[in-house]
Amino acid sequence: MNFSKRLLDWYMIEHRDLPWRHTKDPYIIWLSEIILQQTQVKQGLPYFQKFVSRFPSVHDLANASEDEVLKLWQGLGYYSRARNLHFTAQYVSKTLNGVFPDNYKDLKTLKGVGDYTAAAIASFAYDEPVAVVDGNVQRVLSRFLGIHTPINSTEGVKEFKLKAQELLDESNPALYNQAIMEFGALHCRPKSPKCMFCTFQKDCVAFQKGIQEELPIKLKKTKVKKRYFNYLVLTDSEEKTLVQKRSGAGIWKGLYEFPLIESEQAREIPTSEEVSEATNIPAELIQSINIHNEKPVVHLLSHRKIMATFIDIQVRGLLSEGELLGEKELIQIKDLRQLAVPVLIQNFIESEFPIA
Ligand code: ADE
Repeated sequence: MNFSKRLLDWYMIEHRDLPWRHTKDPYIIWLSEIILQQTQVKQGLPYFQKFVSRFPSVHDLANASEDEVLKLWQGLGYYSRARNLHFTAQYVSKTLNGVFPDNYKDLKTLKGVGDYTAAAIASFAYDEPVAVVDGNVQRVLSRFLGIHTPINSTEGVKEFKLKAQELLDESNPALYNQAIMEFGALHCRPKSPKCMFCTFQKDCVAFQKGIQEELPIKLKKTKVKKRYFNYLVLTDSEEKTLVQKRSGAGIWKGLYEFPLIESEQAREIPTSEEVSEATNIPAELIQSINIHNEKPVVHLLSHRKIMATFIDIQVRGLLSEGELLGEKELIQIKDLRQLAVPVLIQNFIESEFPIA
């Protein structure tokens, strides 16, 4: 027995009776899918019912005020989805005279309608043979076929789309699509899938290898950590400044930078004492301290977001070698360009100390 036949047999017995499965109206299907992008079926149901009874047609939704739409959406979060919903209703109602596009490609031109939603509407409403690919479908396919490509990688997205389309039952795309999503939601669950009662036991690669709980693979997005760098740009009476070489690990190792005070948050202007502590210049020599850029310069690295503030510090008289702490070096401002520095510092040097 083939994949689709077994899947549909399962669906006939196990599926939930959900209101959007009783219609071919693209408006109702679109509405349900936008709500279900935002929440689980159980939480989404009352919202779906509220929207359908208040706005039975796309014209009713289009003619509502944005405030009313946002109010009904309240609790679902991600309010740009509600604004897109309203915008698209107005577009369909006014520009398309209330008629939704009737195919996958044109459905995708609607604001807020991506690959998944277009495939769902096209198949459920118009029986177009396009496979839906959501997290449920990816899980079922990765286990059944033993695919280890991460679902959120560029190759993974392509591969799962291709496999989903290959397995799609083209003679019954609406039912097949509902069935594979339902199978993922109820049976081939993320945790404790019901493998012991599964119609696919013999052919499921993951079950045969006992790796069903390991699939699908998802790349962890490294959390971008914010760091606040306050660079001290000193100038003495002979246009000299202080730099230091970055030591330790990290991608900036060996590059020069201005003396640095790192802080937990965007911070107030440092005191002379703090500057003195960071540079070893006696506090009495510090004449003025001014923030150079009120808004931090944002510098994005793969897993860091650096928020840099440059602080102009005028020194009375001359900086001298003897006072320098650690790795710090005295240098003429005009020679700064000869140093290897991070791009963030280079941009500052080029804009603040242009070549005369
Ligand atoms: N989640 C997203 N779309 C769905 C649908 N049509 N039925 C059940 N769950 C869903």
